[in-house]
Formats: sequence, C-alpha cells, structure tokens
Amino acid sequence: MKWALGTWELTCTGVFFGWLLLYKYLVVRRRRRGGLEDKPESIGPPRGTSGWPLIGETIEFIAAGYTSRPVTFMEKRKSLYGKVFKTHILGRPIIVSTDPDVNKVVLQNQGNVFIPCYPKSVIELLGESSILQMNGGLQKRIHAIVGGFLRSPQFKDRITKDIQKSVKLTLSSWLDRENLRQPLYLQDETKKITFEILVRLLMSVEPGEDMEFLKKEFMEVIKGLICLPVKLPGFRMYKSLQAKERMQKMVRKIVDDRKTAMEKNEAKISGLPNDVIDVLLRDTGESDGTQQRLPLDFISGNIIEMMIPGEDSVPMIMTLAVKYLSDNPKALACLVDENDKLKKRKDESCEEYAWTDYVSLQFTQGVISETLRMANIINAIWRKALEDVEVNGYLIPKGWCVLASLTSVHMDEENYQNPDEFDPWRWEKSGVSVKSNKFAPFGGGQRLCPGLELSRLEISIFLHHLVTTCTWVAEEDQIVYFPTVKTRRKLPIIVTPR
Ligand code: HEM
Repeated sequence: MKWALGTWELTCTGVFFGWLLLYKYLVVRRRRRGGLEDKPESIGPPRGTSGWPLIGETIEFIAAGYTSRPVTFMEKRKSLYGKVFKTHILGRPIIVSTDPDVNKVVLQNQGNVFIPCYPKSVIELLGESSILQMNGGLQKRIHAIVGGFLRSPQFKDRITKDIQKSVKLTLSSWLDRENLRQPLYLQDETKKITFEILVRLLMSVEPGEDMEFLKKEFMEVIKGLICLPVKLPGFRMYKSLQAKERMQKMVRKIVDDRKTAMEKNEAKISGLPNDVIDVLLRDTGESDGTQQRLPLDFISGNIIEMMIPGEDSVPMIMTLAVKYLSDNPKALACLVDENDKLKKRKDESCEEYAWTDYVSLQFTQGVISETLRMANIINAIWRKALEDVEVNGYLIPKGWCVLASLTSVHMDEENYQNPDEFDPWRWEKSGVSVKSNKFAPFGGGQRLCPGLELSRLEISIFLHHLVTTCTWVAEEDQIVYFPTVKTRRKLPIIVTPR
C-alpha cells in the first residue's frame, strides 16, 4: 500500500512537473509566435469574452442589429470592459474599438501595420487588386489620382449639371404620373438617380441598353457580398462571380476602345479627364516612381469594384434624410426655408446653379451630417494587424482583426448630447464639427472615402430640388440596421407638386 502510495505520489509529481513544463513551452511558443516576449508587463490585449465555442457572441451581435439601437451590443461590453474590448463574432476573434482616438490611429495606419480585413465572400468578389483590398504604394497611387479627380472643382462643375439633370428628370417623372395617390418607393427611386451618375463618372456610359445591362449584372454581383464563399455552380457566390465576369468583358471593351482613341490622339490629350477610366489610363506612374502605366485588366476590374462603395451609400443617405425630415417637421421647415431662399436668388438673377451654391447651404449640410451620424452606412471599418501594435495603452496582437466601430462613436453621449435625437442644429454649435475624429462616416486616414465631397454634393442637389418643387407624406416605415442600414418598406411616400 505504502509502495502503491509512493508510486502514486511520484506519478502525480511527475505529471504535475510534466504539465508545468508543457504549459511553459506552449506559453513561450505562443508568445514568440505573437511576438509578445518583449512587451512590458503593463500592456496587454483588451479585456472581453469569447462567448460560446465556435459562434462566440455572434447571436447577441446580430440580435442587436435587428433592434432600433444596434449599439446596445457595444454599449454593454463597453460598460464591462472599457472602450476597447475583445469578442468573437462572425467566425473570428476580434478587437472592437469604440474609442475615437483609437479608431483614428487604426485608420491613420502609420507604418502600414493595418490592412483591410473583409469577410471571405467580399474578398472573393473583390479580387486582390481591388482598391478596397490593395495596400502600400499602389493603393496610395490609385487613391490619390481618383480622389484628386473627384475633388477637382472642374469635375464638380460638370457633374453638378449631370446630377441636376437626373434629379429634375426623376422628379418630373414622379409628378407626371397619372395616379399621384400611389406611393413611390424612395429607396428604389434614389438608387436609379445615383447609379446612373456613378456609371457616368466612372466610365461615361449614358442611359440606354448598356446602362441597363450594367445595372442588371451589378445587382447580381452585390448579392454575393454577404453569402457562403462557395464557388460552385448553383451557389450564390458562383452566380455573382459569373455576373462580374460578364460586366468585366463589357468594361474591358470600353477601356480598350478608349486606349486606342487615346493613342491616336496622344498629342491632343489635355484638360480634364472625362471619367475615372481616363484618369487611370492617363496616369504614368510618376507619383509613386514606378513610371509604369496601369494594366488594362487592372483598370477594368477596379472600375467595377469602385461601384461597390458608391452604389448603395448615397441613395440610402438620401432616403434616410427624407425619413428623418418626415418625422421632424421643424427641421423640414428650416430646410425648405433655406432652399427656397437659394431658389429665389437663382430665379431672380437668372444664374445657373454652381456646385458651391449647394454645398454652402449650412442647414442642409447639417441635415446631411446628422443623417450620416445617426445611420452610418458603413457602421464599422475592419482591419487586421500585421504585427503587434500598441494603441493608446492597448495591445493589438499580430494577426488580430480590429473593428473600428464608427456607429458607437457617433451614438455615444460623451461625444454627442442626446445622441438618439435627430438634431441638425447641433452642427451649428461650437465644439461639434465634421472635421473632428468623433465624426467619421467616410472613414479616415489613408483610405478616407474619395467620394466624400461628391456624395455630399449629390445629396444636397437632390434635397434642394425635392423640397423646392414637391411636398410629400411618408408612410409608416422603420429603419433596420442589419446586415446594412435600410428602411424596412423602402420608404413609401406620396408626392405632390408644390
Ligand atoms: C454617403 C456616401 C458614402 C459613404 C458614407 C462612404 C463611406 C466610405 C468609407 C467609410 C470608406 C473607408 C473604407 C475603409 O477604410 O476601409 C470609403 C472608402 C471608399 N469609398 Fe466611399 N462612401 C460613400 C460614397 C462613395 C462614392 C459615391 C464613391 C465613388 C465614387 C465611393 C468610393 C470609395 C472608394 C473607392 C473607397 C476606397 C478607398 C481606399 O480604400 O483607398 N464612396 N467610403
């Protein structure tokens, strides 16, 4: 018995030390892999929980997305663990930041330590050479030339005329209908306007057969953004990739024709490019020192991929602005007043509208900012750390994804008084500014949306002509936030002439 006990004791001691050694080995190996061994003791990964095995906290995350306050998921964890916490959602462990200063550092991306980190289906659809996924010098080059074109006053002069034309045509088609009592679905109507503008500025295709083809195929493409990433016949991803290929053929032909025309007229090429295809074709690679022109396949692929961030965002903000205004008659009256004054000035002077007329409407800009704050289309930005990074006292370990939550910042009482209230006047107060890092609907840093000014211009033109020519009554509808922000019934409105 004694012998048996001794052996038992020996075995236990052996097992104990064995475990100790194994544990030490595993921890050291994990630390080495993560590169943590040189970090001071005080800095650690953020606190939080991984939730259930495999699914983590995904169910709570999605459930919050279906309520009228999707930020409750973030708020609950923020109160338990602080503004930056870890969780496990949508199949991966992730660090969530609701802190504007941390978000700023992540988006600024000094030293190129953070790269985009999209769900697998998005990665499959975009392809590696899409501006949304590429990194380093090439991303900076494309971002700079496309952004420079879209921000240029000459481009804004020209696109203002196109937007006005589209908006006026759409509004008169609404008012010319036989049965004005029949509701229009604003979410669909605004998409028609903005899709045509987007296609025109990217590749100068006019309304007609080609436009309809692009519209149809593009709708197929975006259906695959959130789906199972299986590329087999019958699966959604397969259908979307096929549609992208059909689009690619058409866009490639436009690029080829344009290139041939450019080569014939090489000497005469000057002045403002017609569209983003021209911008990309003309670029000689001087800015990044490569002195290399962009391959034609790369150009046609990127033209399609640039439609993805531009397609849904602007019409959704137009629709939501109308929804918020319908629910806030005082704000609507102020908007009408400001826009009526501009219209009167223009009528009296017989001057054409300039883009600067629209963007200098202070209250209208407040309405747009407030809509973007309350219903951010891109509610968070996903990044992955390429190495261990310390941000404001938190360690983001190599390989971890960071979700910089924009909505949490926009809906935080610390940043905005009564954040759940639609209050366009708040943008007139001191201390509230669209330039603050507490307001980032268009992201920030290296990837700040190049369509920012264009989007504001489009929405301003739409609101101006809507409120100066029509009145409307909106039917009951609700805003839903998952998987993206939209109105449940596409916002039915009954429109009458003013
Ligand atoms: C209300 C409208 C819009 C909103 C709220 C919006 C928001 C954003 C945000 C948050 C990002 C940053 C994504 C990231 O950092 O990963 C972004 C990037 C981008 N947006 Fe927009 N966007 C809007 C309209 C547009 C339009 C109209 C266009 C096209 C003309 C456009 C083209 C792009 C492109 C190409 C990028 C990628 C930039 C890069 O990675 O270098 N966006 N947008």
